Formats: sequence, C-alpha cells, structure tokens
Amino acid sequence: MITETHSGRVAVVTGAAGGFGTAIALELARRGADIIAVDIHSPDATVSAVRELGRKATGITADISNADAVAGITPELLDFGGRVDILVNNAGVFPFVDLFELNYAEWRRIFAINTDSQFLMATAVMRSMRESGWGRIVNLASNSLGLAVSGMVAYMAAKGAVVGFTRALATDLAPYGITVNAVCPTASRTSGGEKFIGNEVLEHVAQMQAIKRVGVASDIVGTVCFLSSDDSAFMTAQTVVCDGGLMRV
Ligand SMILES: NC(=O)c1ccc[n+]([C@@H]2O[C@H](COP(=O)([O-])OP(=O)(O)OC[C@H]3O[C@@H](n4cnc5c(N)ncnc54)[C@H](O)[C@@H]3O)[C@@H](O)[C@H]2O)c1
Repeated sequence: MITETHSGRVAVVTGAAGGFGTAIALELARRGADIIAVDIHSPDATVSAVRELGRKATGITADISNADAVAGITPELLDFGGRVDILVNNAGVFPFVDLFELNYAEWRRIFAINTDSQFLMATAVMRSMRESGWGRIVNLASNSLGLAVSGMVAYMAAKGAVVGFTRALATDLAPYGITVNAVCPTASRTSGGEKFIGNEVLEHVAQMQAIKRVGVASDIVGTVCFLSSDDSAFMTAQTVVCDGGLMRV
C-alpha cells in the first residue's frame, strides 16, 4: 500500500520527459503530489500519466541550462500551485568524450546541463520555499564519482560540483525549513542509459555491484521520495548512494 506522504505538495521535476524523471514524477504523484514536469523535450506523456493518477500536472518545455529560459518559466513554476514545495533537479546528460577531443564548448555544455541548471532551478523556487517555511531539494549526482571511468572528465567534474553545491545550499537554506540532498544512482537502463552508456557497459557495471542486475528508473524513486518527504526532515547536505552496492568497491 502506498501512503500519501506527499499529499498537498507541489513538486517540480526536471528532465521529466523520460528516464528517472518520469519515474520520479509518477511516484511523487502516487504519493499525493501535484507535478510540474520540465524538460527540453515535451513532457506531455508524463503529464497525462500523472493526471490519470488523479493529480494536477502541467508540462513546461524549456532548456533549463539557459538562465534566460529559466527566468522565463519561473512565473509559471510559481503560479501553478501558488508555491513550490519540492524540486527534483534530475535533468542531465552523460556523454562519454575522449579527453583529447573534449573542447571548452563541450565542457561548458555538459556543466551547464548537469550543474548550472540545478543552480538556476533552485534559485528560481527557493524564495517560495522560504516563504512557506518548508522545502525539499533533491539533486541528481552519480556514483561514477566513485569510479575510475574514462571519458567522463566533464561529467564527473559537473556531478562533483553538484555534491559541493548540495552541501553549500543545504547550509544556507536550513534556517528556512528547506533540506537539500543529493542522490547517486548507478549506471541504469533509462533512455539516457541506453543512449550514453550502452548495454555492454550497463551489464559490466551490474557485475561490479553487490546486487548484480542493471539498475532501472524505479530503483531510485523510493530514495528521492524519502528525501522529499517529512520523514527526512533532520537529514540535509547528504549524498545518498543508491547503486546496488557498487560504491562498496
Ligand atoms: N541513467 C544512468 O545511468 C545514470 C547514472 C547516474 C546518474 N544519472 C543521472 O540521473 C539523471 C537522469 O538521468 P536519466 O538516465 O534519466 O537520463 P535520460 O536521458 O533518460 O533523461 C534525462 C532527461 O533530461 C532532459 N534534459 C536534458 N537536457 C536538458 C535541458 N537542457 N533542459 C531540460 N531538460 C533536459 C532530457 O530531455 C531527458 O528527458 C541525470 O542527471 C543523470 O546524470 C543517470
């Protein structure tokens, strides 16, 4: 039985057109939240699925690595439910790029999507959370931080920055009842996992985990829901690894 731990909450989920984002949006809705699904691609399918669960939902198509775009959508984020309670900063890209092919433009692009977007979205909604004296921000990082993975210089730097950003933001927002935590998934079979990682590496990583199966989107939703609920009220600035035990290596 699912308890409505998120009843009455308004949640923004980025990267909600597929992968982890869709799974997170649907589980938050099952637990009672209304959903704002944001993605660079149309999140309409996610919005329809949330509405079928009986929750309110709206979709926003925007490139959230761009400061002007985030400024442009901020009124819509705040108007939908009159406030924002939960932000799941999930949007990201994780291409493998040979270091000797990695130019500054690509480094900036990877950083902008994985890291800048989290800053832009958090600062867009944090005043609303401060006003209501309650908020939850969950930032997607990656367990690749604990691995020696070749071709991920920009991505690992960007996700490392997410961990530092999470700790710093948690410090500054704690006085207002707002917690900020990061979640590190393993290499998982999402749309992005298929595109950027591929089946062979997904299977290889699974064999290094204690739980030897490839991760799927639903594997992290329980952790994200916990970190965005009342149950985690005394937990902030943490990086929670939810990766089938890979990081024990
Ligand atoms: N799948 C994995 O193996 C894995 C492992 C560790 C961490 N992660 C992290 O989890 C998060 C989600 O990954 P996923 O596997 O669901 O990926 P995914 O590619 O399946 O989904 C990511 C979503 O983000 C959206 N997006 C990309 N750029 C955007 C932008 N500029 N503005 C708005 N939306 C944008 C995409 O359109 C897509 O719908 C990412 O932050 C990723 O780094 C994934």
